[in-house]
Amino acid sequence: MVVLHVFKGLEIISGNGPYLVEFDETSLTKSDPFLEGNVHIIMDSKLLDLYPKTLAKFINHPNTILIQANEHNKAILQVLPVIETLLENGARRGHTLLAIGGGVIQDIVCFISSVLFRGLDWKFFPTTLLSQADSCIGSKSSINLGKTKNILGTFKPPKSVLICPVFLETLDRCEILSGIGEILKVHAIDSIERFNNVSNDYDILLSDPMVLLKYIKDSLLIKKKYIELDEYDTGVRNIFNYGHSFGHAIESATQFAIPHGIAVTIGMDMANRISSWRGSLPEMHYKRMHGVLRKNYLDYIDVDVPIELMLTALKKDKKNTAESLMLILPIGEKASVEVVAVKADDEFASQCKKYFDEIFV
Ligand SMILES: NC(=O)c1ccc[n+]([C@@H]2O[C@H](COP(=O)([O-])OP(=O)(O)OC[C@H]3O[C@@H](n4cnc5c(N)ncnc54)[C@H](O)[C@@H]3O)[C@@H](O)[C@H]2O)c1
Repeated sequence: MVVLHVFKGLEIISGNGPYLVEFDETSLTKSDPFLEGNVHIIMDSKLLDLYPKTLAKFINHPNTILIQANEHNKAILQVLPVIETLLENGARRGHTLLAIGGGVIQDIVCFISSVLFRGLDWKFFPTTLLSQADSCIGSKSSINLGKTKNILGTFKPPKSVLICPVFLETLDRCEILSGIGEILKVHAIDSIERFNNVSNDYDILLSDPMVLLKYIKDSLLIKKKYIELDEYDTGVRNIFNYGHSFGHAIESATQFAIPHGIAVTIGMDMANRISSWRGSLPEMHYKRMHGVLRKNYLDYIDVDVPIELMLTALKKDKKNTAESLMLILPIGEKASVEVVAVKADDEFASQCKKYFDEIFV
């Protein structure tokens, strides 16, 4: 049974001071203060056609830059012309950047806000499920370098976030599943019970916006606990990369044919399988989680994941040391998610291959 609770918003404590995540459940009624002062808007160009009226005042603003949200445009060489346009538009120290879009636009704006004039304030209207339920808090920017995903980055918390769930109505199914991938991850990190609850509610998540909203809020509350303890990802927060080392490698190897959050669900399934093969995770946990993870990536089961490319990408993951891959694996009776050093040897390569032979058939 889903229990709905009254929830006005939340305050996140960060090294740069606290910031508010507000919910505006009907429309962008609370958005006016976001246009105060010298603001430069960077917006997902797809929203132009989808929300010409709702977003009119942002679309018609003189300092609005439109960007197509894709991984290519999140690469450093594509970010530089955006900075040039900001300068042409008169951006100065003390101005504010406003990001309107999903995780790609967020990463670009958060990154620029960290480096331009040694730091500008930025604010965010997340418009995808992934960005509303997960990425909008936590301060990270991640930028691609060529084919290497998220290898450049900074920490820069937003000044405020406004979540308007009506934007979710126009998302494609794959983008909803991608966001659910991150919701599954956050709940798995928190506890077996939490994961089992979201797993039992999986089908209603896709059909009932109120249930989805409850899980967006729950995901943010869980993430808040970890980022407030370890904003700069040097300790406990590392486990939020569960599913991500494998997931990023799968995204790179398939040239981003699989959306991020769906690659993360494959990555979680793979981490569980490999941990059980290594004798670190009771097989029942792999089986307990496999059903719902598989449901979430089933639409992509026919995508070819070239194993050598995936292993090469995995070795480039920024968490690795010179000797080992640093993987986030579930361990023990409680399936608690931990950082584990794993040698990238022949046995590991053959386990990765076996996983895809078993699952992607
Ligand atoms: N910085 C972080 O903390 C963090 C965390 C997780 C993921 N990420 C990054 O986020 C990116 C994925 O973000 P995402 O899943 O939000 O995807 P996205 O920003 O790539 O958007 C996905 C698609 O949805 C479209 N879209 C956006 N809003 C829409 C709406 N309201 N209706 C219809 N279509 C809409 C976009 O144009 C795009 O085609 C990845 O690059 C990932 O690495 C960053």
